Amino acid sequence: MKPRVFVTRRVYPAALAILQEHCVVDYQDSHDTLDAARLVRRLQHADAVVCQLTDPLTAAVIAAAPKLRGIHQIAVGHDNIDVAAATARGIVVTNTPGVLTEATADLTWALLLAAARRVPEAERFLRAGKWQRWDVDLLCGADVSGRTLGLVGFGRIGQAVARRALGFGMRVLYASRSETPAAVEQELRAQRVPLDLLLKQSDFVSLHVPLRDETRHLIGVEQLCQMKSTAFLINTARGPVVDERALVAALEEGLIAGAGLDVFETEPTVTPGLLQLPNVVLLPHVGSAVTSVRSLMCALAANDCVALLTGERPKHPVNPQVLAPLENE
Ligand code: DGY
Repeated sequence: MKPRVFVTRRVYPAALAILQEHCVVDYQDSHDTLDAARLVRRLQHADAVVCQLTDPLTAAVIAAAPKLRGIHQIAVGHDNIDVAAATARGIVVTNTPGVLTEATADLTWALLLAAARRVPEAERFLRAGKWQRWDVDLLCGADVSGRTLGLVGFGRIGQAVARRALGFGMRVLYASRSETPAAVEQELRAQRVPLDLLLKQSDFVSLHVPLRDETRHLIGVEQLCQMKSTAFLINTARGPVVDERALVAALEEGLIAGAGLDVFETEPTVTPGLLQLPNVVLLPHVGSAVTSVRSLMCALAANDCVALLTGERPKHPVNPQVLAPLENE
């Protein structure tokens, strides 16, 4: 008998075809998000679920899915999944690292440049018919080239952002809980420093850490006060890494110059105050939103799901301890 998979939301067709070849697929072919109760109902007979970052795979939901063996997230971040609860039940959780690195780094730069050079504000100005003539001080922004970029988190995406900074002749600082090989530091001309020094010295602070207990509100009042009044905060990681109320206050009071946000504390709700601020660029969580990339992310999750259900080893386990150890492990 074929294993059963629940696909929680609309995915690219190639991923569906991969799943349908090997499994009986229960497909929710819509962009609606299921709440916990509806999710539990659909998971009753599922051996695996292919899910997205909007799906609450909490401990309670996992506990109420009696046959579940695999949770396959179409994203690299997996803070919507209680991995500890899954691990305790022997359920494999997989994600989709690698394929979205360059797209997310590109979008980080789009936000950084847009915030520094006031691109959305300038476009709004033009569309509103306010442009009369070239003025020497019209919509002037901040320098990017030659400035200091501070990366909080220096994994795949942080490093890809640093690689782009080479072209802008920037000094790159990074704060990270783990060391980076010296060869990579040299290639990217990046220097590891404590977070407080990074905040004090950077003209652009860009966040690239996953959401964990220890990174929740990593950037709050205290950290914003340490930043230069001319600096910009860029967030393409996860919203709750920033205390958004503190950020709104900091922007209103001119503690920092501006921000570029692709992620928010309670998506899709935008914290009151942010929409009114002209010096913030706001995007609806589109860091990896490139058609080829999203399609690959779907396929990666589907392939890992099929691998698990056909007795192969999934390529991207988040909790590999649940799987039999590899020979060299
Ligand atoms: C991720 O993968 O975690 C992004 O936020 C969505 O691409």
